[in-house]
Amino acid sequence: MATHYNQQLSLHWLEKLVLLALNELDRPATYEELAQKAVELVNRAHTAPGREAFATTARQPSAVAKACGWLQQKQLIEQYEHGETTRIISLGEEGLRYASEGLPERRLVNFLIERGGEAKVDEVSRTINDYAIALNWAKRNGWITFDKKDSETYVRIVSEPPSTTVAEELLQRLRLEDAIPVDSLPEEMKNIVEQMTTRQDVIRIVEKRERRVGLTSKGKELASQLAAVKLEEILSEITQLTPEILKTGKWRHLTLSKYDITAAVPPVFAAKRHPLVELIRLVKQVYVEMGFEEIQGPIVELAFWNFDALFQPQDHPAREMQDTFYVDLQERGEIPREYVDEVKKVHENGGRTGSKGWRYNWSEDEARKLVLRTHTTATTIRHLAEVKKPPIKVFSVDRIYRNEKVDWKHLAEFHQIEGIVMERGANFRQLMGIIKEFYSRLGLREVRFRPSYFPYTEPSAEVEVFLGGKWLELGGMGVFRPETTAPFGVKYPVLAWGLGLERLAMAIYGVEDIRTFSRNDLGWLRRTSPLTPYRAAGRI
Ligand code: PHE
Repeated sequence: MATHYNQQLSLHWLEKLVLLALNELDRPATYEELAQKAVELVNRAHTAPGREAFATTARQPSAVAKACGWLQQKQLIEQYEHGETTRIISLGEEGLRYASEGLPERRLVNFLIERGGEAKVDEVSRTINDYAIALNWAKRNGWITFDKKDSETYVRIVSEPPSTTVAEELLQRLRLEDAIPVDSLPEEMKNIVEQMTTRQDVIRIVEKRERRVGLTSKGKELASQLAAVKLEEILSEITQLTPEILKTGKWRHLTLSKYDITAAVPPVFAAKRHPLVELIRLVKQVYVEMGFEEIQGPIVELAFWNFDALFQPQDHPAREMQDTFYVDLQERGEIPREYVDEVKKVHENGGRTGSKGWRYNWSEDEARKLVLRTHTTATTIRHLAEVKKPPIKVFSVDRIYRNEKVDWKHLAEFHQIEGIVMERGANFRQLMGIIKEFYSRLGLREVRFRPSYFPYTEPSAEVEVFLGGKWLELGGMGVFRPETTAPFGVKYPVLAWGLGLERLAMAIYGVEDIRTFSRNDLGWLRRTSPLTPYRAAGRI
C-alpha cells in the first residue's frame, strides 16, 4: 500500500523541502546543495506568508542536516560519507567576542579618531581591551604608526581603515551561519582565512568528510507525491508561534507542525547517587522505621574496643597483621582507665562473671594499639559502655577494613550493617524476629539461621537470606556474653548483629564482581538505576 505523504508519517516542512529538493536534483546531494535548493523552493512559493522566516531556516546547512537526520530515521533517505573532506570554518571563543565587541584593532582606531587621530600608548593600554593585539594588528594593517614626543610614545592614525574589512565581514557571516565550508567563501574571504588562523582562537577549522544524501525508494515515492502539492500549502506549516503571527491573525491560515513525541531522543544522564549509597539510604530508612537510632564511631579504633572489649583473646588469629590493618605508629591510644582492670580480669580469669576467662596475661600495651576497625561491633560496644542504661536500640551502617587480597569477591574496605538492642528480658527469639523483620522490609522474606560461634556472643548464629536463587550468608548475630557486658556494668541482655552490605548490594544489583562498587565505571553507573533497591524491596 502506498504511503500518503501526510498520513502515516508526519513530516516537518523542512523535511518536505528536503525531499522535494532531492526529487528535483535527482541525485545525491550535500547539505549545502540541499540548503540552496530548499531556499529556491521557498522563493517559488510567492504567496506563502512568513516566506522570509522559512528561507532563513532553510538556508542553514545545519538545519537541513537536522531534517536529514529525521528523514533517515523514517527511512526516506540514506546518507553516505564521501571520500573527500571539506574544511568547515566557525568562530572560536575570541572570535565570538570580537564578532560582538568588534576587532581590537577596530576599537583602537575608533578610539584614536575620537581623540583627533592620536593618543599616548599609555592611555591606549588603559582604555582598550586587548590593546597589545590591537596595536599589533592595526600596525600590520598599516593603519597606525608610533611617534616619540618628549619621551612619550604616541599612536597616530596614518590611514583610515575601510568602514568594514573583509575580516569583519567574515566574522559577521560566521556569527549568523555558525559553520561555513571554506570552499564556499568568496575568494577574498578565503585569502583572509589563512591570516585569521594565526590569531588565537578567533576562528576554528575542522575537516569534515563530506556527506551526501539520497532518497530511498520509499522516499522517492513520497517525494513524487509531494511534488504534486502546492508549495504554499507545505509552507503554511510552522513550528513556532510568534507574537507577530498572533497579532496579525496570520495564525488562522497556518498549520502548526506536529511533534513526534515517540521520536528517539539522545539519552540524558542526570546526576544521581551512587548505587551503594542508595542502598545505604534504604537500609537506614528501614532501621529508623523500626525505631532505631543511628550511631557512629571512629574508623581508626583502639584494639581495646575492636577486640578486647569483645572478649577476643589477644592471641586470636583475627588480630594478626594478615587479617587486620594496624596503624603504623609507635604511639598508642588511650584506653578509658575505668575499664582496664575489669577487662583484664575477664580475659585472665573471668572476673566476677563465673567464666574461667582465657587464662593468659592480658597486655594493656596490646589493647592500646590502633587498628582500622575490622567490624562495626567496635562501635556498638563503645556506645554500650558509654550509655549503659536500658533501653538501647541503635544501628550503624558504616565502613570497615580487613587486610584482604582484593578480588571479585573481596574488598579491603567495605560496609557493615550493625545493630544492638538492650533491654530487660531481651532474648534470642526476639533477635531472630528483628533480623527477619529487617530483611522483610527490604523485600527479603526468606531468612534462616544457622548455629555459629563468635567470642563475644552466646548463643551465636549465622544469618542467611534467600536471594538471587540461592541462600546467601549475610552476617552474624548473637546475645552478648556476660564477659562482654559485665566489665562495662551492663545489666541486661544485649542482642547484637553485624551484616554485610556489599553482598546484599551485589545480589540486588545483579553484580558479579564486588569491585564494581568502587571502580567508578561510568557505563555501569549510568546504566544502573538508583531505584533498584527500592523496587526490589517493593517500595515503588
Ligand atoms: N562482628 C561480626 C562480624 O564482623 C558480626 C557479629 C556482630 C556477630 C554482632 C555477632 C554479633 O562478622
